[in-house]
Amino acid sequence: MAKQGLLVLFLLALLCKVMSIRSHHQSTKDPIDGSFCLSWRLAVETNNELPWRTVPNKCSQYVEDYLIHGQYERDLELIMEQALNYVNGISLVGDGMDAWILDVDDTCISNIYYYKSKNYGCEPYDPPAFRAWAVKGWCTAIPPVLKLFNKLIDNGFKVILLTGRDQESLGQVTVDNLHNQGFIAYERLIMRTAAYKGQSAVMYKSNIRKQLEDEGYKIWGNVGDQWSDLQGNSSGNRTFKLPNPMYFVP
Ligand SMILES: *[C@@H]1O[C@H](CO)[C@@H](O)[C@H](O)[C@H]1NC(C)=O
Ligand SMILES: *[C@@H]1O[C@H](CO)[C@@H](O)[C@H](O)[C@H]1NC(C)=O
Ligand SMILES: [Mg+2]
Repeated sequence: MAKQGLLVLFLLALLCKVMSIRSHHQSTKDPIDGSFCLSWRLAVETNNELPWRTVPNKCSQYVEDYLIHGQYERDLELIMEQALNYVNGISLVGDGMDAWILDVDDTCISNIYYYKSKNYGCEPYDPPAFRAWAVKGWCTAIPPVLKLFNKLIDNGFKVILLTGRDQESLGQVTVDNLHNQGFIAYERLIMRTAAYKGQSAVMYKSNIRKQLEDEGYKIWGNVGDQWSDLQGNSSGNRTFKLPNPMYFVP
């Protein structure tokens, strides 16, 4: 009887071992890959991985989970809470030139739906496909950023939206898309014109911010999902980097 019991236990243990080896090899959520992808995302967000063109193939599922199962939203909420705390502590100069700069794509409005079709960034940047998506005007508001946007306007700041989107081909659709997602009453929407064609995002955005300062604007805060939104000159008193594990704009 005792011998039979031991045999059953031994067989059960063997079965468990075999199954764990099988599941280890079959699972798309391999714990080793998950751990790698978390390290990769941290490196990307801290700008240590530079430059990067695509999401590693084995991280496509990881990036999807991050984006659509709540963690991305919680990260955004926490960052925007920091921004709101900062906003509440500012005493405005009050001359109508107290300003904030907000980026547009994946800062105010989201392209996650488009990037889903590109395997969450595992496929390389595809300008014609992105343009075809952008002209539909289907980007959705990123709620924690919309909340900051409204708070800034209520508190008397001038919100200036600064984007690398092409003015000529995407001007009207961008205005409409922002408007239908609740981004109303901003001071200016600045898009890339022919004069800045070919310039890196850092150069282009620095140039524009410098011009705004020359006009007399005081840039209290600057929000973007890319480091190139925040680097360079005239970056603003505080910068807020939003997560984006889908793509990198140099
Ligand atoms: C930024 O910080 C400096 C130093 O703390 C302060 O004098 C200035 O008023 C702040 N605001 C802007 C918009 O520069
Ligand atoms: C920042 O300003 C310096 C000095 O004016 C200039 O040489 C440099 O090109 C600027 N950098 C950017 C990214 O605009
Ligand atoms: Mg962006």
